[in-house]
Amino acid sequence: MYDKILFFMSTKLKSLDRLTTFRIHAKAKNIITVTSSNTLAKEWRQAVDRKEPVVILGEGSNVLFLEDFNGTIILNRIKGISVTEDSSTWKLHVGAGEKWHELVQYSLANGMSGLENLALIFGCVGSAPIQNIGAYGIEFARVCEYVDVLNLHKNEQFRLTADQCQFGYRESIFTHDYRHGYAVVSVGICLDKHWQPVLEYGDLKKLSLHNVTPKQVFDSVCHMRTTNLPNPWHHGNAGSFFKNPIVKTVLASQIKEKYPEVPMYLQVSGDVKLAAAWLIERCELKGFQIGGAAVDKTHALVLINIDHATSSDVVKLARNVRTCVARKFGIWLEPEVRFISSVSEVNFIEVLE
Ligand code: FAD
Ligand code: EPU
Repeated sequence: MYDKILFFMSTKLKSLDRLTTFRIHAKAKNIITVTSSNTLAKEWRQAVDRKEPVVILGEGSNVLFLEDFNGTIILNRIKGISVTEDSSTWKLHVGAGEKWHELVQYSLANGMSGLENLALIFGCVGSAPIQNIGAYGIEFARVCEYVDVLNLHKNEQFRLTADQCQFGYRESIFTHDYRHGYAVVSVGICLDKHWQPVLEYGDLKKLSLHNVTPKQVFDSVCHMRTTNLPNPWHHGNAGSFFKNPIVKTVLASQIKEKYPEVPMYLQVSGDVKLAAAWLIERCELKGFQIGGAAVDKTHALVLINIDHATSSDVVKLARNVRTCVARKFGIWLEPEVRFISSVSEVNFIEVLE
């Protein structure tokens, strides 16, 4: 306790409030911006030598700081986009600190199609492979050629092919074996010149497969996103707070018997993906508020910072939502958002159970 007081008295902590889309008050001992893999490696090593915990951040759109961070935050701002092409593909090599949505805009402005379904996703390009970002029928895995990774302990850079990244729904090797001690420094994206629009989701189904343009898909996706999801600049949030649960067919059938309208997505494995938003809405939790945190009234899967929420408000709300869904449907939702304590990232089970 005494050590903790001394730490706060002796250190001028730096605010993280504007560095996460949740906009929840938290501070860190050091915040360092890096623009190359060399400086990233150097800053990481120096923090470790100081015996400080380190966390790498992109745009902070998928994290919740549970308390002040007693160490160094490294902001990845490694920039650069280079493009090569052959007769059938465009190949983009992109620095991990480029903003994802700006990359989508850049590709379309330069006549390269294939990223339009992934428009308006917050975050940096280097974060895209981490949870294999996905929306409106496409995942990052579909366009990924390779990911360049820095092994921070050995200060060695190496390249993983898309297959080696072990992409799955909201997961990859970077959420498993390479979760700690590895930094994504650049990614390789391969876009097919023979554009095949993906129009299976929401309003995209209204577009005509025969004469649709990439720009129309982009506009439609942007329209759906701005209509369906709360804007973090109005009410802080981190997008979907939970992942959609993947359950056995037996359980899905039991739910369907009682609620024939339940949205269900059959998986290649034979299991069924359910819409967490639908489950939460059926628990009548839309608009439910604890302290300054609430379940968004438009989209039940988004927990928002409605009025100066603390991280503890968000955690209590998330715990409540999980318990209600488990009681009603027998399904324990898993968060998509990553929790960070004063010293490291922490497992959601430690936080929410
Ligand atoms: P951060 O939040 O900064 O970091 C996320 C995690 O990755 C942290 O654990 C961090 O330590 C780690 N990390 C960050 N950079 C690196 C690096 N270079 N190397 C190693 N580790 C790193 N996601 C989707 O998939 N689909 C969506 O449709 C979607 N919509 C969203 C809508 C809104 C309004 C918001 C706020 C978020 C949405 N998200 C969505 C979630 C989020 O945008 C993505 O997860 C995004 O990829 C996170 O990027 P970031 O740079 O903000 O990562
Ligand atoms: N629904 C409800 N209530 C709501 C909202 C939605 O019942 O309040 C129903 C919808 O009617 C629909 C279903 O739930 O039948 C799915 O809703 P939506 O299309 O909005 O998609 P989602 O499954 O909630 C996922 C991703 C989003 C991504 C969208 C679009 C996850 C966890 N979330 O949301 O990603 O943008 O699909 O593809 O997979 C994110 O990861 O942060 C994120 C926003």
